[in-house]
Amino acid sequence: MHAEPSLQELRATVAEFGPGKGHVLPALHKVQETYGYVSAQAMEIIARQLNTTAALIYGAASFYSDIRTSPPPSTEISWCSGPTCRLRGGDRIREAMQHVLELPLGGHSDDHAYGIHVGQCNGTCHEAPMVWVNGEVTGPLTVASAIELARAVKEGTA
Ligand code: FES
Repeated sequence: MHAEPSLQELRATVAEFGPGKGHVLPALHKVQETYGYVSAQAMEIIARQLNTTAALIYGAASFYSDIRTSPPPSTEISWCSGPTCRLRGGDRIREAMQHVLELPLGGHSDDHAYGIHVGQCNGTCHEAPMVWVNGEVTGPLTVASAIELARAVKEGTA
């Protein structure tokens, strides 16, 4: 599990951003890329740095589904929501995996051992339909191989 960064670390991470709504999303993304998620404390720091309210930052963080507000699970499936993956059956892959994992999209097991969330196309469309497992591209998947993968993740053998 990720350790909560210190206030100083958080301030340094968002130091490049100034006041203005245009900086909200870049600041959220920078914190997430750096620490894996955006904690409540990080949102307060971003609000101060951007000279705005924490409520505005909370609102933006909950509006964008790719912003995570709790630490990532140990094994994480990122389901690609891009157009090529969806055209090639990505939704069926997602449904099959969610069924096995018994999780909503964006959910994780109670012990934080595994989870599934939505990811964005990063250009590896030749592997569509695909997911990332802890950042590693896994595809092209069939419904059967997606079920197998989800079982392995759930059992901790992936
Ligand atoms: S659409 Fe899924 S990797 Fe491009």
